[in-house]
Amino acid sequence: MQPLAINEQRLQRQIDELALITEAEPPVVMRVIFSEADMRGRAFVKNLCREAGLVLREDAVGNIFARWEGSDKNLPPVASGSHIDAIPNAGKYDGVVGVLGVIEAIRALQQAGFQPKRSIELIIFTSEEPTRFGIGCLGSRLFSGVLPVAKAAALKDRDGKTLDEWRKIGGCKGDLSSVLLPKDCYAAFVELHIEQGPILEAENIDIGVVEKIAAPSTLRVGLTGVGGHAGATLMPGRRDALLAGAEIALAVERAATTTGSPDTVGTTGVFRIEPGAVNSVPCRAWLEIDLRDTLVKTRDGALEKIERAVPEICKRRGVEFQMERVNVDAPAICDAALVQTVVEVCGELKLPVKKMISRAYHDTLFMAQVCPTTMIFIPCFKGYSHRPDEYSSPEQIKNGVTVLAHTLAKLAE
Ligand code: GLV
Ligand code: MN
Ligand code: MN
Repeated sequence: MQPLAINEQRLQRQIDELALITEAEPPVVMRVIFSEADMRGRAFVKNLCREAGLVLREDAVGNIFARWEGSDKNLPPVASGSHIDAIPNAGKYDGVVGVLGVIEAIRALQQAGFQPKRSIELIIFTSEEPTRFGIGCLGSRLFSGVLPVAKAAALKDRDGKTLDEWRKIGGCKGDLSSVLLPKDCYAAFVELHIEQGPILEAENIDIGVVEKIAAPSTLRVGLTGVGGHAGATLMPGRRDALLAGAEIALAVERAATTTGSPDTVGTTGVFRIEPGAVNSVPCRAWLEIDLRDTLVKTRDGALEKIERAVPEICKRRGVEFQMERVNVDAPAICDAALVQTVVEVCGELKLPVKKMISRAYHDTLFMAQVCPTTMIFIPCFKGYSHRPDEYSSPEQIKNGVTVLAHTLAKLAE
């Protein structure tokens, strides 16, 4: 094989172009799954796949597969991919680098005359972000069977629109049960992603290789108090849903900061109230709480603390509550041999590499239940992510794509 020529200008152009397909005013990126912008983004990426000669297929939940056929169709393919859906107020690199980067890696391998023995498959996962349905990694959860089909079918967005209704809008065909992947249907899965943390940049290291992904969980709390006139309802005996929610959010912070582990993180990222009028006591509130740790035991301890705090706060404030565990996931342990393969590739390319833990979750969390996995991280500016000033340089992205291309080549030959 000739040396690989990664075209970083072409890739950067594609990243910039995709970033303009957004529900928000650029530079803010927002593509909630199956929104009009997301559908245009999906079409944009599918078109690039066709241009690269990849064979496209979509499953019943809208996961997109783009395959470069290998010479031996009996061998399980090697897979790589990520997501292009983006949360409100997002940047342009989260997920996107691991999708467009795969297409660029494949094009460079094709140009170098590489002939894969195993097929190489790009997967663009549906709803890695939890924005629409409140649960992350929808596509890969269904792949792995971690999310039962009945539970997925019951998912609704804030307006009560069901997953099935959204699947229709997204043009998905077939039964949700067909999304499940047989174990070891892939030889390996390697996801390229920006680090979303500050370590690689601070230590001036080009590549991270992921050994473990921290365990995420999500709680949803609904609160019903008693509303009324802000002037005429005197303070004693008020049953303010917002104030109960505020105390719960503080309990989340307390639970996350008192585990004794610096790895526990707790966030109340959604807090909505009704009626939302300045002169009206809030009668309803909804909270969505994100709690994670690298250690399940510590995470679960903090989760239980929050779950004990909610009834205590609500009882004291005369507010009714509903509480639901949306997801309580195990961490993922990556495959030691795959990690070693990435380390060796970095050695051959003379790129400094560091083994690391991913604190963010990724579809790799669930692909790890299907086949051996790891992730390739590249540095990003100050570790910023989930914000519009998220940034990795063309050179940093090129390094990641180069490592990915060589890794895929090793795994597919
Ligand atoms: C992924 O977007 C995460 O929240 O970790
Ligand atoms: Mn994200
Ligand atoms: Mn991501």
